[in-house]
Amino acid sequence: MATSEELLERLDTGLWTYREPLRFFGVEIGRVMVVVRLSGGGLLIHSPAELTPDLRRALAELGDVRFVVPASKLHGHLYMEQYREAYPRAELLAAPGLDHRRTDLDFDGLLGGAPDPRWSADLDQTAFLGHRWLSEIEFYHRPSRTLIIGDICYHVTAEAPFATRAVARLAGMYDRLSVPPDFRITVVNEAAARQSVRRMLGWEFDRVVVGHGSVLESGGREAVREAFDWLL
Ligand SMILES: [Fe+2]
Repeated sequence: MATSEELLERLDTGLWTYREPLRFFGVEIGRVMVVVRLSGGGLLIHSPAELTPDLRRALAELGDVRFVVPASKLHGHLYMEQYREAYPRAELLAAPGLDHRRTDLDFDGLLGGAPDPRWSADLDQTAFLGHRWLSEIEFYHRPSRTLIIGDICYHVTAEAPFATRAVARLAGMYDRLSVPPDFRITVVNEAAARQSVRRMLGWEFDRVVVGHGSVLESGGREAVREAFDWLL
């Protein structure tokens, strides 16, 4: 039986990640779930992974699941129904557009550009605007100075499988925090997107946790600035 220390990687006080495999067009890019223990008690789960019995046990060691949030209507909603069933008292929050996509789920609220007072002591948030179809919610975990994002940047490093590294190298995305080319070309309102990046850069983060790829442990703010150089 796996313990929480084996399943969840502790990044900092009150902050863990959990990885599950995910293939995208035949390339293993993996997927990262984030667990935040709020200072008022209770857990916020970001981009929930499949709730296996082991994961459920590991989470129970950390605290009560209170909130379950996705990054966007595309990233991090796949297993929300399992959390609704396992934690009937936890609130499921939708990202913009997800409430229309997942009509099977009865959401308790909609995430926007400002944090809920129930987690604002620990987390700030902003909506990334200006993209054609995606308003991703970006979170800043203040106590650990960590930016938590979904798809706006990938971070493929030596930890990734060979084929993934090869594709990332071809795309010029290897070993650096990078905006995926498909996201970049589907920004329709550059001024709004620029504002979104500037709001993120207003946070004093050092670490970045991406939805796909390795954690960037330090220098995160400069790396985000460089990744969005084309926009700024
Ligand atoms: Fe994603």
